[in-house]
Amino acid sequence: MQFYIDSADIEEIRQANRRGWVDGVTTNPTLVAKTGRRHEDVIKDICNEVKGLVSAEVLSLKADEMVKEGVQLAKIADNVVVKIPMCEEGLIAVRRLSAEGIKTNVTLVFSPLQALLTAKAGATLVSPFVGRLDDISSNGMEVISQITQIFQNYDLATQVLVASIRHPIHIMESAMMGADVVTVPFKVLQQIVNHPLTDKGIAQFLKDAQNVPK
Ligand code: G3P
Repeated sequence: MQFYIDSADIEEIRQANRRGWVDGVTTNPTLVAKTGRRHEDVIKDICNEVKGLVSAEVLSLKADEMVKEGVQLAKIADNVVVKIPMCEEGLIAVRRLSAEGIKTNVTLVFSPLQALLTAKAGATLVSPFVGRLDDISSNGMEVISQITQIFQNYDLATQVLVASIRHPIHIMESAMMGADVVTVPFKVLQQIVNHPLTDKGIAQFLKDAQNVPK
């Protein structure tokens, strides 16, 4: 399973990349706005830092405009993936961008059938949002289980990228279900590293090492 970082903060991305946690990056307008910088500049910096795929989101809601924006974003670097919101116009844009050889990531997906339509349109990645489903008392991970099953049944090429991850259990269950990618905030990536028994074990080894004759 690939690990992407869900961030537009270049310092955070660098730190995660140094630790080997960044197979790719996803951004969205909310994350880019937090940087206070121009969208294109943010994406350019991230693409210089990271070798894997970097998702950059369009803001238009009409297919023609999405395609124009997508073509511009794809010019920033070879590893840019154009992120398109799930809607009818979005699916038209995905088909057109795919025909031009531009990679796409369909975002704001909340049901297995939305994901199936996305795959049929030829998207590179589909991003179901698990945390936001949990927030409204739906079961986000059940949707991932359904999507991975459907994609296996029909051997679909679109990769399942689990988004809106809030805690390590989302990551663990994604791996058990065979999702292709998880995109994770930096603080949740850090949470996976730690375990109280690891900390206790390190402290004990350091203590015992003092009794080893010099
Ligand atoms: O980048 C899309 C997604 O991961 C956003 O997550 O926490 O805003 O629901 P969240």
